Amino acid sequence: MAENMITTRSLGVAVEGVKDQYADGKAAKVWEVFIGDKNSRTENYKNFLVGLLREKRCKRILDVACGTGIDSIMLLEEGFEVVSVDASDKMLKYALKARWNRRKEPAFDKWIIEEANWLTLFDDIEDLVGDGFDAVICLGNSFAHLLDSYGDQREQSKALRNFEKCVKPGGFLLIDHRNYDSIIDTGETASKCIYYNPKHTTDIRTSVLYVSGKPALVTLDYLIDLSSENEKSDIIYPDESISEFRLSYYPHRLKVFRQMLEKAFGENSSYRIYGDFKTLDQIESPNFYIHVTEKSSTIF
Ligand SMILES: C[S@@+](CC[C@H](N)C(=O)[O-])C[C@H]1O[C@@H](n2cnc3c(N)ncnc32)[C@H](O)[C@@H]1O
Repeated sequence: MAENMITTRSLGVAVEGVKDQYADGKAAKVWEVFIGDKNSRTENYKNFLVGLLREKRCKRILDVACGTGIDSIMLLEEGFEVVSVDASDKMLKYALKARWNRRKEPAFDKWIIEEANWLTLFDDIEDLVGDGFDAVICLGNSFAHLLDSYGDQREQSKALRNFEKCVKPGGFLLIDHRNYDSIIDTGETASKCIYYNPKHTTDIRTSVLYVSGKPALVTLDYLIDLSSENEKSDIIYPDESISEFRLSYYPHRLKVFRQMLEKAFGENSSYRIYGDFKTLDQIESPNFYIHVTEKSSTIF
């Protein structure tokens, strides 16, 4: 077995350690550098997301993992009405700041930002759901932050059911995850990113934790070169030029994830999967999978 694979009988301490992974504010701060200029989402990403939402005539979008606000801001700028939620106040701080700075623009003045957790999402924002959103998005490999504390993915199922309740009949869920099948097989994570324009990522070190013989946790150590940022006088980063932050993820297998979606949205909904924004017959081993689920318009 490769050196970066660890085996254990239980998730143990790791579960406690990853509950609010952005709480110390370090990852949130470096995340802003990692994702680069908010105006420079990769063209492929923007064309895919905005194109799909327009094609489906979506207007009202719920971003359930808004983080520092990068997707939400892009969608506001493209004329969508956006409600944004996230569980981390350290990440939300940046979205709130962007809203404040651009409050004179009507779209930003109307932008709703709330703190909410996927496990209680529907109850947290029921008053905002109304007849449901045209689309719910959960992007940037966010969903994999939810770990499998009980070994039966009950929390992931609960979160997906909450997402389903927020989507109107005939509406969409767009949710993604890294290609964990490949990460598990190779023990490596591609540092090339299809979403952002990361000028500073030098490496992503990968560890896979096995619990009772099954891959249960992937830990990614992001190495970010901040030397050029430190030259700017108004931004204070640690003295070292290489900053490191660690995030942990549940390694979703493509097939199992697809089945979980079907359990939450039912067999009358429709399911499509893209790999790095291409259909699966166009790409062999993508870095990211994006699931597009169209909720059945018939209520049974
Ligand atoms: C990797 S960041 C991505 C943010 C943004 N979508 C992007 O692409 O930059 C993941 C976000 O998911 C949020 N998150 C993780 N678990 C959550 C949960 N249970 N409920 C709500 N948000 C959660 C984190 O706080 C974090 O801001």
